[in-house]
Amino acid sequence: MEYIVVNGQKVLKGRVSISGAKNSAVAILAASIASGGTCLIDNLPQIEDVTSMVAAMQAMGVKCEFTDTNTLRVNPTEMTSYTFDERLAKNMRASYYFMGALLGRYKQAEIPLPGGCDLGARPIDYHLKGFTALGAKCIQEHGFVKLQADKLKGANIYLDSPSVGATINIMMAAVFAEGVTLIENAAKEPHVVDVANFLNKLGAKIGGAGTATIRILGVPKLTGGDYTVLPDPIEAGTYMIAAAITGGDVTVENIIPKHMDSVTAKLKEMGCNITEGGDWIHVCGSEVLRSCEIKTAFYPGFPTDLQPQMATLLCKAQGTSTVTENVFDSRFRYVSELKRLGAQIKVEGRMAVTKGSCVFTGAEVAATDLRAGAALIIAGLCAKGETVIGELYHLDRGYERFEEKFRSLGADIKRIKRDE
Ligand code: EPU
Repeated sequence: MEYIVVNGQKVLKGRVSISGAKNSAVAILAASIASGGTCLIDNLPQIEDVTSMVAAMQAMGVKCEFTDTNTLRVNPTEMTSYTFDERLAKNMRASYYFMGALLGRYKQAEIPLPGGCDLGARPIDYHLKGFTALGAKCIQEHGFVKLQADKLKGANIYLDSPSVGATINIMMAAVFAEGVTLIENAAKEPHVVDVANFLNKLGAKIGGAGTATIRILGVPKLTGGDYTVLPDPIEAGTYMIAAAITGGDVTVENIIPKHMDSVTAKLKEMGCNITEGGDWIHVCGSEVLRSCEIKTAFYPGFPTDLQPQMATLLCKAQGTSTVTENVFDSRFRYVSELKRLGAQIKVEGRMAVTKGSCVFTGAEVAATDLRAGAALIIAGLCAKGETVIGELYHLDRGYERFEEKFRSLGADIKRIKRDE
């Protein structure tokens, strides 16, 4: 089994370059199978979710070839199957994007129900309602969703809440629906815009991505095209918080600072000194961190994917802070692990209350999900002594060269193998 070992209390200093966004990359890969030719997708992060997506696409008969570590050439024109490998789907959420992409382009799909991080109930009812409104038959049986349509027709689709997955999935199917589709109460996350930009590059006619109303005028087919995946705001936020917790001095590079506004605002409120330029943010930690309130929300609100990392930082701040999770039912499973490191934190329903001024002390802990793993590493970076983090497969799904990047900032962090 592999473990990450962190010897804490090293101040992070230097520059770190952010990789392509996981949640954009996986959706863009799925969208690429709807293209009518070759796509060259650049800035793909080298992470397990991307590896699994590419393996599943190859099993469908899609030609995939890495031209370098972060660039993939995809050609789906000789696809032979419209289903996603069941074993690969169990580990990831993004397999659901093949529903929209296959239904749109090939009018059929048979996709296993998705896996991914356990954050409470994660239904896909909005996705299926959207596909049905476009004219598809959706049947759920034996753990699979079977979708079929003779043709798709544009429709007005209202989402009960602005789900990222449902917005992207419905948008992908609607690209090929006759006439106009309106998605109302759509998600505004940067990766929704990224997927729309990619599809538009291939000839789709999508307007309004990034606002609450997305308008899609159906087209009969797409071409191939080249595209560069957006930088990862969650990876960037993870390093910003790590810089703050170690009282460090770190420049996070190759990002879109606007996407970080909610994180920047909260770190400033806590006392960090933050400056930004065209594609970088510089975080200078403060000796004294002030408490604050965090409420997760859909973009441009504070991202749920940085909630565990931020709660960890708040454990170090003076006084009591609160963290309210408004997106997922159950995103506090990491709290019991954080407590092993000394956190004083109590969860009541959707809210966690941190007591503050915590001195973390190293212990052996397990990543309960992807962002939980990042939070435990952040705690380990400022803990006294050695922190050992297990269940690394969660982390490997979503962070590229995590230990290497932290080492370049001066952290004492390594990966070890242990015989159990
Ligand atoms: N929801 C429904 N019905 C649906 C879809 C969503 O009730 O049909 C609810 C969910 O249960 C949840 C809320 O709506 O309470 C938001 O879910 P959303 O669909 O936006 O999330 P997702 O598509 O399942 C993606 C990311 C998550 C990220 C969320 C929110 C991918 C592959 N996953 O999940 O990423 O937390 O959006 O931004 O893009 C992560 O990277 O660590 C991660 C969990």
